[in-house]
Amino acid sequence: MTDSNHGDIFNDDHVKPFMPPDEFKNNSQVNDDSLYREAQKDRYAFWNRMADGLDWIQKWDKLIDDGTSPYFKWFINGKLNVSANCLDRHVENGLGNKKALVFEGEQGDSVEFTYTELLKEVCKFSNVLKNLGVNKGDAVTIWMPMVPEAIIAMLACTRIGAIHSVVFGGFSPEALKDRILDSKSKILVTADGAFRRGKTIPMLDSAREELEKCPSIEKVIIIERTGTPYNKKDNRDLLYSELIAEVGENFAPVAMDAEDPLFILYSSGTTGKPKGILHTTGGYLVGVNATFRYVFDHREDDIFWCTADVGWITGHSYIVYGPLSNGTTTFIYEGTPDYPARDRFWELIEKYKITVFYTAPTAIRSFMRWGSHIPAGRDLSSLRLLGSVGEPINPEAWLWYHEHIGKGRCPIVDTWWQTETGMIMITPLPGVTPLKPGSATKPFPGIDADVVDDRGNSTEPGQRGFLVIKSPWPAMLRTLFEDQERYEVTYWKQYPGIYFTGDGAWKDKDGYFWIMGRVDDVLNVSGHRIGTMEVESALVDHPSVAEAAVIGKVHEIKGHAITAFVTLKEGVEGNDELVKELKSHVGKRIGAIARPEDIFFTYELPKTRSGKIMRRLLRDIAEKRELGDVTTLMDPQVVASIKDKYGEK
Ligand code: WTA
Repeated sequence: MTDSNHGDIFNDDHVKPFMPPDEFKNNSQVNDDSLYREAQKDRYAFWNRMADGLDWIQKWDKLIDDGTSPYFKWFINGKLNVSANCLDRHVENGLGNKKALVFEGEQGDSVEFTYTELLKEVCKFSNVLKNLGVNKGDAVTIWMPMVPEAIIAMLACTRIGAIHSVVFGGFSPEALKDRILDSKSKILVTADGAFRRGKTIPMLDSAREELEKCPSIEKVIIIERTGTPYNKKDNRDLLYSELIAEVGENFAPVAMDAEDPLFILYSSGTTGKPKGILHTTGGYLVGVNATFRYVFDHREDDIFWCTADVGWITGHSYIVYGPLSNGTTTFIYEGTPDYPARDRFWELIEKYKITVFYTAPTAIRSFMRWGSHIPAGRDLSSLRLLGSVGEPINPEAWLWYHEHIGKGRCPIVDTWWQTETGMIMITPLPGVTPLKPGSATKPFPGIDADVVDDRGNSTEPGQRGFLVIKSPWPAMLRTLFEDQERYEVTYWKQYPGIYFTGDGAWKDKDGYFWIMGRVDDVLNVSGHRIGTMEVESALVDHPSVAEAAVIGKVHEIKGHAITAFVTLKEGVEGNDELVKELKSHVGKRIGAIARPEDIFFTYELPKTRSGKIMRRLLRDIAEKRELGDVTTLMDPQVVASIKDKYGEK
């Protein structure tokens, strides 16, 4: 817990803000503080106006019911349909021929859907689901590669009022099984296989055994993507292409109550069992619609590319529901940034004239490591705005992104939010907010965020504390699926009536938020609290370092000893000299207390398939414990190689 006696004072006096370029500002959705003033005057009136921009079948009688905290309800008695808001209304408004979804496969194949075409595909799949007995309130699991059918299936669920549970395609069959069992899905939508760096990876066939353990599953719908062989199970397995050929092209959207469940998305918590985060229909759509419009400064001719997978919240909110509810063209790519070559993303930006690009710091640091000559070989002049999400972006990566991808022209929106929040919460508005590299800047209008100490009092500028949200917001999770107790304990017990994010942060004297990472990753070294992210950022700041993960190794005297695992830029050799240099570099950046005790060089860090570094595993290695679950790792080899090296010491 925070303790002000340790002088946790931060300042940003060295930071010179980047102002929105005039050309950007003059053409943007908002270029003054009017939205902030409106929301400050009356937060609820602001959300009321945001909701008015959507198509409601029946208007709500009351904006919010906050009498049953923490079980908030929004848009009481309002009725709407999400797919109708994402598709039908744009077709009715004359955007039928506008591109809604543009896809490029790993092999270079490409498919485009106009709003009219996407609506037709979604209606057809809604008919398929309906014919298979799927009704309002039923759960459907989607475990797919990044192909258009994943999005079509999501939208078809929302059209019927079925609850989708998208499981990231890179999760193992066992993880899939756990999520199916929890959600009790009737239907699984999946593929024969997925393309990955030129190879094919079987999906359905690999899940055969685990699916036998899922009694709720009545039908499996298969998209044949790769031609990978699988054993078809009679009476259960059906082909997407055959089903779709037999149904009509119209399907009336079902009127959903604003508080009807929209989807479940599983996310890791502090225990082994994933949390089924539940979002509902009206509030979620209002939140993602408004944040997409203002954070990404929606313009008619945008081609928007969010590089997340639809299996994560970022994909749900800013590949599918935010962009489509605003009538934007959303672009998706099936593959990875380094196949067939390391300029794949820049090639796509050049080819499709992407205007807004939204990615994660971990990707940006890989791009840096590969070298700026790679993006320099492509025409990136279509870009006008960049985004970052998922973890704190270290200033060095921010500046590289700004210079080498944005060419100094494009503002960067560093957006802080969570699966639980549903929508972006702390973020710049790109035509308004002066940017400080490394800060997610300020709460979105209508969001009541703060940094507080252990007792729940707001901290002074420069003082570390806990990031909380003090008033409800429309896209907030409503509960954890069938686990109310965990919902209450995880988010609402720390400070009654206030949402606890689990992140540490500090605010500067301008009211900018600086996110320091999860509080469970905070170390205590000789009574001083040190954010693993702070040490990592300092290490990554060194010209030889590409990426770093810092953990606290239990230490008899100090409590924790800082241990760093570091990957170096290409061509740099890791030796004792460099270890010394890095230690003193960190000491210089933060203070002697933050100097790592041990530094290990490794060719890669253990990461989940979504790119998050698994510090838990590094802690296990450092403390010579039996390794925990490695099945969700992107590359399980990495752990073995670090373990070998660590053993040498
Ligand atoms: C972290 C992803 C700093 C944070 C949308 C949060 C960030 C967790 C940022 C949620 C950011 C996300 N700056 N940290 N811009 N964005 N985080 O649920 O620790 O996958 O609590 O949602 O990621 O991760 P999740």
